[in-house]
Amino acid sequence: MRLSSSKIRGVTALEILDSRGNPTLRAGVELEDGSAGWANVPSGASTGAHEAHELRDNDPARYRGKGVRQAAENVRGPLAAAVKGLPAGDCRRVDEALREADGTKNKSRLGANALLAVSLAAARAAAASAGQPLWRCLCPEEKKILPVPMMNILNGGAHAANNVDIQEFMIIPRGVPSFGEGLRRCAEVYHALGAILRERGLGSGVGDEGGFAPDLSSDEEALELILRAIGRAGYRPGDEVGLALDAAASEWMQEGGVYHTPKGGKVRTPEELAEYWAGLAAQYPILSLEDGMAEDDWQGWQLLTRRLGTRMQLVGDDLFVTNIRRLKRGLEEGAGNAILIKPNQIGTLTETLEAVSMAQEKGWGVVMSHRSGETEDPIIADLAVATGCGQIKSGAPCRSERTAKYNRLLEIEAEMAGMG
Ligand code: PGA
Ligand code: ZN
Repeated sequence: MRLSSSKIRGVTALEILDSRGNPTLRAGVELEDGSAGWANVPSGASTGAHEAHELRDNDPARYRGKGVRQAAENVRGPLAAAVKGLPAGDCRRVDEALREADGTKNKSRLGANALLAVSLAAARAAAASAGQPLWRCLCPEEKKILPVPMMNILNGGAHAANNVDIQEFMIIPRGVPSFGEGLRRCAEVYHALGAILRERGLGSGVGDEGGFAPDLSSDEEALELILRAIGRAGYRPGDEVGLALDAAASEWMQEGGVYHTPKGGKVRTPEELAEYWAGLAAQYPILSLEDGMAEDDWQGWQLLTRRLGTRMQLVGDDLFVTNIRRLKRGLEEGAGNAILIKPNQIGTLTETLEAVSMAQEKGWGVVMSHRSGETEDPIIADLAVATGCGQIKSGAPCRSERTAKYNRLLEIEAEMAGMG
């Protein structure tokens, strides 16, 4: 973070709602020069076991135990005390103070949700104090590029009440001259898919991330329908619009190391699952596969990477949980070749940026990501541009918590053009 040396004067917190109607946290940070920043934290459904701790009240009398009043208290109390008087622009110092106040490895005492809300709000306040948008203040200037959308247009798994096991079916525009053109292409395919589903009498209701959530005969049928939609929208599948999947296969892992798809009832060993992915990759223009194996199946991941790692992007979400310790292991062991970045998996901005840098230094792919439980806060758009990570997942062009990020990227595209 450059420019602002104004110090933190006050920190506030509010329990708000996310897009699934569960409580989440907003923090506000005010600086001595009168500038202020706020940030909301999102929340996942298919949460990885190794994520930093999301503190909930567990009081069954409120929000089915999901309240975050204690996390809000932690922001107002110990975390505010820890950062008051620090220069908000010095993210590293602010984040270190937050981590010290918590004192645990996985931020379980005060809550990673509490730490992240303050960490991001402080960065926003510092940017406001410098009179700059956040994307311009973080990371070296030469890094900054707009990301390619990896747009989720069909939802399954834990994100939809249908019979599809793969959690996310996404499309990636290829060879587009700008972010806006890529976004348009994706939105057109989304509409074409909706039309096809309606024609076939398949439900056009949407899942948690705004993608359609029809009941289908198989996961392959979803791929077929999307290929058809790409063609209907006037694009060549593969060349102009590619496919990406997030299997979220940690959700399929059973005791004994076998994978069991909860909806389709398929049972596969890691070898058979790798074979399944290779078969899909041979048949469809799949450019990226996320969590094709489970979060603790390092051997399965190695197998998959040896099998498909030169052909496509293999993204670790639950495997790496935005944590450099786990990413280091993946780099050493050849597990995956790309990382998904979710700031709330790790709990501070600094650690998030470190994970991005480590992956970039090794030439790995980096995908900035929303969560299934989101808010109107578009901060991941700024983080994607600041880090130049190249790719972003923010769901369908539907539901304003999803479009907030895409719209912010359009805004940044215009801001960049204005820079001349
Ligand atoms: P989650 O899903 O936010 O429910 O964890 C998103 C993802 O798996 O990428
Ligand atoms: Zn995922």
